Amino acid sequence: MIGMIAKNTRVVVLTGAGISAESGIRTFRASDGLWEEHRIEDVATPQGWRANPQLVWSFYQQRRRQLLEVEPNPGHVALAELERYLDDFLLVTQNVDDLHERAGSNNLIHMHGELEKLRCEDCGHIEAMMDEEYLTDEFVACTNCGSRVRPHIVWFGEAPFQMRQIENAVHQCDLFIAIGTSGHVYPASKYLHDANMSGARTLCINLEPPENIQFFDEFFQGKSGELLPELVEQWINDSTVE
Ligand code: APR
Ligand code: ZN
Repeated sequence: MIGMIAKNTRVVVLTGAGISAESGIRTFRASDGLWEEHRIEDVATPQGWRANPQLVWSFYQQRRRQLLEVEPNPGHVALAELERYLDDFLLVTQNVDDLHERAGSNNLIHMHGELEKLRCEDCGHIEAMMDEEYLTDEFVACTNCGSRVRPHIVWFGEAPFQMRQIENAVHQCDLFIAIGTSGHVYPASKYLHDANMSGARTLCINLEPPENIQFFDEFFQGKSGELLPELVEQWINDSTVE
């Protein structure tokens, strides 16, 4: 068991839908296999967007409006505190909500994109558009060229963002912590393997034992909003005593 983390430990944290569950955002792989009543192929693939852009647009607009109603939970807050304490910290999230940044996290990569942002299908212009006029079910026009914008979300079959930067950090880290992620989705699932290969310690905090549990050095079972504040407190406080 780790009781303390020295300030100069290089830490990479990977979060998934579970960390936002206690804020009221549903995870993906609920027992029915649907995401908010929709098949994932219909709302989270480029094919789905081409087949029925209105459905996909309305779906993400609803997710965007939901951001205005949810708040970070103690798990998000604890991670921001851990970041402030450490010299070298990277938070990689698969989540598209903005709860980590609202809790105070800074060094953060949204590998699957961000709900807040929209991206022009034509010129690629990306903008955070959260004013009321951009939150309706009507399509929105690019402020740069006037073409239609799409959600700035990585759909199945598209490449995640900043992979090189994430891989470098994972290869160099001393401690890798996965939180609230089922471990099903590549390439996030591969980072655990890479961290192990590089000799990092690997921890997991999850409500259910994840798919890849046997590859973690330690597993803490429970809700991240309950476990993380205690764990971070312990990691930070013990190490100041040395
Ligand atoms: N605290 C900790 N873990 C939790 C909590 C909680 N309060 N609630 C749920 N969990 C766990 C579940 O047990 C599950 O293992 O979080 C995990 C969530 O898994 P998924 O729903 O599969 O989410 P995630 O791993 O983030 O999915 C990865 O798949 O659909 C794509 O692109 C999408 O980013 C997403 C990716
Ligand atoms: Zn444009």
